[in-house]
Amino acid sequence: MTTDPSTAAAEGSEGDRVIIFDTTLRDGEQCPGATMTFEEKLEVADCLDEMGVDIIEAGFPIASEGDFEAVTAIAKRVQNATIAGLARAINADIDRAGEAVKHARRGRIHTFVSTSPIHLAHQMRKTEAEVLEIITATVARARNLVEDVEWSAMDATRTGIDYLCQCVDAAIKAGATTINLPDTVGYATPDEYAEMFRQVRERVPGSDKAVFSTHCHNDLGLAVANSLAALGAGARQIECTINGIGERAGNAALEEIVMAIRTRRDKLRYDTGIESTMLARASKLVSAVTNFPVQYNKAIVGRNAFAHESGIHQDGILKHQQTYEIMTPESVGVGKTSLVMGKHSGRNAFRSKLKELGYDLGENAFEDAFVRFKSLADRKKHVYDEDIEALVDQGIAHMHD
Ligand code: KIV
Ligand code: ZN
Repeated sequence: MTTDPSTAAAEGSEGDRVIIFDTTLRDGEQCPGATMTFEEKLEVADCLDEMGVDIIEAGFPIASEGDFEAVTAIAKRVQNATIAGLARAINADIDRAGEAVKHARRGRIHTFVSTSPIHLAHQMRKTEAEVLEIITATVARARNLVEDVEWSAMDATRTGIDYLCQCVDAAIKAGATTINLPDTVGYATPDEYAEMFRQVRERVPGSDKAVFSTHCHNDLGLAVANSLAALGAGARQIECTINGIGERAGNAALEEIVMAIRTRRDKLRYDTGIESTMLARASKLVSAVTNFPVQYNKAIVGRNAFAHESGIHQDGILKHQQTYEIMTPESVGVGKTSLVMGKHSGRNAFRSKLKELGYDLGENAFEDAFVRFKSLADRKKHVYDEDIEALVDQGIAHMHD
């Protein structure tokens, strides 16, 4: 059986395996203000590799000397993942990317060109025929340098389907082994995005030889939904970033993709090779090195993702964790479920908190403490353990007066 997930996906073996392509160090770093130092990039790459990411897009080697050095160093040190370097459809970019990834156990050149009418007219100033020629020439050049070549149709979701099929056909014929159809501007809806994959895979004769990949931006908050929709239409590689960082509103968040696939395996029928217990650690690391806080209510890794405040929810959780949690905090590396004490908390949660703090109160003392806790919670936004300890201790002292 093939063990390299990208070969397996193209061959149709290991039918349930989705390739996770992390672009935190490339598209993620393109997020305004998220630049990382050389050492920070190595630390993130080590963490991604340990976590089981299949492909790490380590940077854009032609962009700067620093990017070239980082991709080269990551290619030299990473043990398991394939290392990809990004390149425009320009010979110098491709050669530079090839130079950087040649040290990797498995190196990939990821080359891209715009295909949509708006990009061709205003950014590229080239005709469709000219771009087709560029695709053939640049993919072939990359393929001369490495075995593993990914080609991306930038702005695929705003490209006419007939022309998109011609481009994909040219890229596969020139030797591309992965075809990425990005939603560059985060414009697609899940059904449209899936339909694009279905059509291209049906209409381009050599499609079965390539792995199809998703790359979704989050401008309409649909990046994860679009990626999963494409999975149902035959995509087998998902490009994503830790904490969803990336250009503008960001990219599909790796932790959300991985946990959606794992939690809903019954429906999505696939799995990844990611060690999910490392997700919280990876999130904290990327947040620290980029100085980008993770929003409190962020799915999977946000501070509130496993926190419950309402009395009804806390009561349910105390009786059975799955009443209000669809995955365990341990499965994503978060310590444990937290019951946040506030004005919505009920008696059961308060009793459990007292037990946790080492108190065993009689019924009267408990009722007295609960009434005073509720009144404090009404006045104070956050009720900390110390507040509860203080009010119980005061109550006990008062009873002894
Ligand atoms: O969003 C995009 O289209 C990209 C390409 C370079 C793949 O990031
Ligand atoms: Zn992108």
